[in-house]
Amino acid sequence: MPAFKHLGYPEEVLLRLEGLVPCRESQVSTLLLIFGERQHFSFPSLFIYGHTSSGKTYVMQTLLKILELPYTFVNCNEYFTSRLLLEEVLRQLQCLSSREEDPAPASCDTFNDFARLFKQGMMTPSLQDQTVYIVLDKAEQLREMEANILPGFLRLNELTDQNVTVILLSDIVWELLRPNTGCLEPMPLYFPDYSIGHLQKILSHDHPPEYSYDFYAAYINILLGVFYPVCRDLKELRHLAVLNFSKYCEPVIQGKATERDTRRLWKNIEPHLKKAMQTVYLREISSSQWEQLQEDGDSGQLKGLSAHAHVELPYYSKFLLIAAYLASYNPARTDKRFFLKHRGTIKKKKNQKKHEKTSNHLLGPKTFPLDRLLAILHSIIDYRVAPTANIFSQITSLVTLQLLTLVGHDDLLTGPRYKCNVSLDFIRSISRTVNFDIIKYLYDFL
Ligand SMILES: Nc1ncnc2c1ncn2[C@@H]1O[C@H](COP(=O)(O)OP(=O)(O)O)[C@@H](O)[C@H]1O
Ligand SMILES: [Mg+2]
Repeated sequence: MPAFKHLGYPEEVLLRLEGLVPCRESQVSTLLLIFGERQHFSFPSLFIYGHTSSGKTYVMQTLLKILELPYTFVNCNEYFTSRLLLEEVLRQLQCLSSREEDPAPASCDTFNDFARLFKQGMMTPSLQDQTVYIVLDKAEQLREMEANILPGFLRLNELTDQNVTVILLSDIVWELLRPNTGCLEPMPLYFPDYSIGHLQKILSHDHPPEYSYDFYAAYINILLGVFYPVCRDLKELRHLAVLNFSKYCEPVIQGKATERDTRRLWKNIEPHLKKAMQTVYLREISSSQWEQLQEDGDSGQLKGLSAHAHVELPYYSKFLLIAAYLASYNPARTDKRFFLKHRGTIKKKKNQKKHEKTSNHLLGPKTFPLDRLLAILHSIIDYRVAPTANIFSQITSLVTLQLLTLVGHDDLLTGPRYKCNVSLDFIRSISRTVNFDIIKYLYDFL
């Protein structure tokens, strides 16, 4: 029993469409009803909304392509000014009507010009007897353009007296987009999030030809069991599925299990997926790094990266902690070399290195006075953040968190001294989050 029925299109086209948009049958049926037959006038404008990865872009493009409807498709983030956007719509319209590869670009400054040029562009026999669809993806960007652009698009068919339907795709609801001056209301259509069953069905479709559908579906089932509680984004899940599939197949390829040995395969893959969740999904390492690690026979290397993922510090405090670490592990006399702006090139003297074999990291953190901490801080951040927050209260917070220790504050003459308590691994993961290459500033690693 075919899901879509429509007199205007051949049955095999509708069947093909059905195969391409799993789990979006009801939305596509609604759209088919709204579109009607090719030559029918449709709604002036539609507003399709739903969370990211709910298939708005994909379904719309597939629908228009498979039914071979005349349409233009523009991403408003890509064409982010009204001029760029309007000219791009006109360019695509010209391609529709003239079938030329590269028509002469139209220049278009205002929405009035656009309406006039649009009407001209529609005046070809091939476009006259059918509805033309203008899709504006990421429509929330229209709010950043001139105030008349959005209302103009919403009543484009009236302004140009042409058979045209404008379709807005957006991640946000219409109430947040509606201009407060009022406008013609588009017809809303909601794309709900995919359920776990939907995701299972869509992802299982991607099975590689050399493996059976059931084998791949079982794998997706395990994958969703691990990742669905933290991630419902179809694009992410698809990426993770591709990334980890070879590991899943390993026992089958090595002959240790058959394709039907679900339990054994599950045992093999589950710890692996959990590890992937700790690192790849959090973007602590890229997927290519992850693959590299898998090839190297994953040792404990990943631990250092994710062990500190739970510590969240304010941006500025991270730099404070980095400065404290540098102050604790670099000898004070080397500060000039690391932190002076125009120091020229100073090289570490060879003979100096000889009698300085002992690593500062082996000796442990040294105490430092507050003014040295502040001096280092300002030299590493001056062009990055303005010191707006109250710096002393942030230092106190770091002490409370036991990332710093206050030593000997009873000495009124010298003021408080501090010591940094965190490990190298820790400070490296903190530095990575603020794009600071701490190794370059550590004397021990010179
Ligand atoms: N029903 C579906 N069947 C197959 N793939 C889908 C489906 N819905 C979404 N996708 C895929 O998921 C990804 C995200 O979809 P997309 O249309 O970009 O979402 P949105 O535009 O709502 O943010 C795309 O790569 C798309 O191919
Ligand atoms: Mg989209």
